[in-house]
Amino acid sequence: TVKKAQAAGNVHVNHCVRKDIDKVVDFVEIEDITEKAVLCRCWKTKNWPYCDGAHATHNKATGDNVGPAIVRHKEK
Ligand code: FES
Repeated sequence: TVKKAQAAGNVHVNHCVRKDIDKVVDFVEIEDITEKAVLCRCWKTKNWPYCDGAHATHNKATGDNVGPAIVRHKEK
């Protein structure tokens, strides 16, 4: 349960993205990716689901090492 998780010290990583829904799921259509898509994995971006570089500030402040997932076409 949520209360058990909170008691165990588990905290939310998502502080701002669509907090009004139960689960955040996004689709990026492969056909829409021209060169690459840089997807946020730190939940700090202001341009969800895309990385805006906010992970760098988070890493500097916390000593963490998170970064984006980059989806791209295979080099030929
Ligand atoms: Fe979240 Fe870059 S802003 S991974």
